[in-house]
Amino acid sequence: MSYVRTHHCNELGLDNVGENVNLSGWVNSSRNLGGLIFIDLRDREGITQLFIDPVAKPEVAAVAKDIRDEWVIQVAGTVRPRPEAMVNKSRATGAVEVEVAEIRILNPSQPMPYNLNDPSASDDMKLKYRYLDMRSSDIVKNLRLRHKITKICRDVLDANGFVEVETPILSKSTPEGARDYLVPSRVHPGTFYALPQAPQQYKQILMVGGVERYFQIARCFRDEDLRADRQPEFTQIDLEMSFIDQDDIMAMVEEMIAAVVKDVRGVEIPRPFRRMPYQVAMDQYGSDKPDVRFGMTIKDLCDVFSATEFKAFRGVLDAGGIVRGINAKGQAAAYSRKNLDALTETAKLFGAKGLVWLKVEAGGALSGSAAKFITEPEASALVSAMDACEGDLLLIVADTWKVVCDALGRLRLDVAAQAGIVDDKALEFLWVVEFPLLDWDPEEKRFVAVHHPFTAAMDEDFPLLDSEPGRVRAKAYDVVLNGVELGGGSIRIHRTDVQAKMFKTLGISDDDAKQRFGHILEALSLGAPPHGGLAIGLDRFVMLMCGAKSIRDVIAFPKTAKASCLMTDSPSQVETKQLDELFIKTTL
Ligand code: AMO
Repeated sequence: MSYVRTHHCNELGLDNVGENVNLSGWVNSSRNLGGLIFIDLRDREGITQLFIDPVAKPEVAAVAKDIRDEWVIQVAGTVRPRPEAMVNKSRATGAVEVEVAEIRILNPSQPMPYNLNDPSASDDMKLKYRYLDMRSSDIVKNLRLRHKITKICRDVLDANGFVEVETPILSKSTPEGARDYLVPSRVHPGTFYALPQAPQQYKQILMVGGVERYFQIARCFRDEDLRADRQPEFTQIDLEMSFIDQDDIMAMVEEMIAAVVKDVRGVEIPRPFRRMPYQVAMDQYGSDKPDVRFGMTIKDLCDVFSATEFKAFRGVLDAGGIVRGINAKGQAAAYSRKNLDALTETAKLFGAKGLVWLKVEAGGALSGSAAKFITEPEASALVSAMDACEGDLLLIVADTWKVVCDALGRLRLDVAAQAGIVDDKALEFLWVVEFPLLDWDPEEKRFVAVHHPFTAAMDEDFPLLDSEPGRVRAKAYDVVLNGVELGGGSIRIHRTDVQAKMFKTLGISDDDAKQRFGHILEALSLGAPPHGGLAIGLDRFVMLMCGAKSIRDVIAFPKTAKASCLMTDSPSQVETKQLDELFIKTTL
C-alpha cells in the first residue's frame, strides 16, 4: 500500500459505491460490536466510517482490534452503502462506509493526556497540548479561514498596485504607546533592539523612499494587559499610501473588507461604510467602538434634572458634570435587586460613584433606588426624554463626561447581551472619525498624542493648536465591526514645520525629539510625500468572520493571559553563559 490517498475523509458518498479507495488519518473512535469492528477515521477534511468483518478479513481484524484512539492508520478497501437504519445524516459521508481489505498502522500513540472529546477539558491542558486541541476542535478550520482571508487581502492589495515589503523585527524602541519587548544586543553590550509594536515608522519611511503603496502582513509585539482580543504578539494587515487623502484609504480598506465578506459570508456589504464622529460615538454609545447592532442609545438628562434637589445629581451638575441614562426596554422584570447591584458594581468599575436605576410602573410612575428624590414633573420629563413606558428599566449615571460615557457604554453592552437583543449574524461596519488629536495627561501635565505624534490635524482645526489644543480633531479613523475596533489609521504629518509645531504642543523639546525620533524626522525632511495609512488587526478580523469569541481561537500558538506559552513553557530561564555573553545580570 503506498502512502498516497485516493480521497479525503469527507469525500465518499453513494456515488463512490463499489470503488476501491485508500484513506489515511487518525482514529477518531472505534467500536467492537460482537466481533464486527467499526472505526471512525478522521483527517483534516472530515470523518469516514470503516467496517471490518473478522470472518471475511481475519488478518485485518487482528490488527484493528488493538488500535486505539488517535493512532495514525492507513486503509485500503471498498466503498459500500450503509444499511438504511445506519445512515448518519449529520455527516457528509454518513450514507456509506469503507469495507477494509488492508490496514496499516502508520504510528501508534501514547494514551491521550486528556479526553479530546470532553468539552470541559481545561484551557491550560488544551494550550499545553495545542496540537491535540487542533485535531479535535475548530482551530484548523479557523486557520484555514485565516489563510483564505489573508490571501484575499493580498490579492486585492496586489491588484491595486500595493507592494508587500518586510520591515525589521529587530528595531528601535520608540517610547510611545504600549511597553516594548526588548532584545539585548551581544555585539553592542548594554544596548537593546525593540520588537516592533507596529511597523509605523518603517512604512512612513518607505513612502519617503518612493514605494507609494506598501502593505505587509506584519507581526507586532506589545507588552500590555491581555484580553480576549489582545495578544502580546499579533498580526496586522498594515498598509500605507502616498499622494492620497483619508477618503482614498477608507475606500481601499472597504474594498478589501468587502471582498473578504463576500467570499467568506457570501454577502455584499453596503459601501461606503457609515461614518460617525468620535463625539457622537461617545455621546450616544459611550464608546469609540460602538456596537450599532442594537439601539439603546444614551440620552442626555441634564435639562430634565436642571432644577433637581436630588443631591447626587445636584452636586454633579453644579460641578460641571452631566446626567445621562439608557432605557433597557422591557427589562424591568428581568432585573432583581441582586442583578441591579451587579450593574451598580460594573458602573463603579468605570469610575461612577453609583448607579441610579428606576423601573417604570403603570401610568409612568417610577420605583427604584432614587425614585423618592425625583419630583413628579421630573419623572414625567424623564419618561418622555427616555421614551419610556411601563416595564422599562432606566439606568442613570451622573458624573464627568468621560465617566458617564464609559459606565453607560459598558452597561449598554451588558444589558443588551443579557436581554438577547444582539443579532450575532449581523455585520455592522462603521468608521469612527474626527478623533481628538491630543489628550490632556493630568499626571504629566501636558498634552499627549491620542494616536501617535505623526498624526495630522484636521485642516479646519489646525489654527486651534495654539489656542485650544484639546479641541483639535485628527485626520484619524478607526474601522469598527460589531463593537470591536478592527483597525485604525491616520493621515500623517509630512512637513517638518508642522511636525515641529506638533512636538512643541506635546511639550517635546527639539533635543528630545531628535533623540527619540531623529531618524524619521530626518527622513520626513528629505522630500516626504503626503501620505497616510491604516492597520487592520488580522486576528480580530478572522475572529469576527468565524464567530469565535477570542483571538486565541484563530492563532495557531497563542499565549495565555499572562503572556506565557504553555506548550513550549516560555518565557523560560536561560543559561548563565547566555546572559554573560549579553552582559546581563538579573536582580531577582
Ligand atoms: P493600532 O495601534 O490602532 O494602530 O493597531 C491597529 C489594529 O491592530 C489590532 N491590535 C491588536 N490585536 C491583537 N492584540 C493586540 N495587542 C492588539 N493591539 C492592536 C487592532 C487595532 O485596531 N501603526 C498604527 C496603524 C496606522 O496608523 O497605520 C497602529 O498600529 O485591531
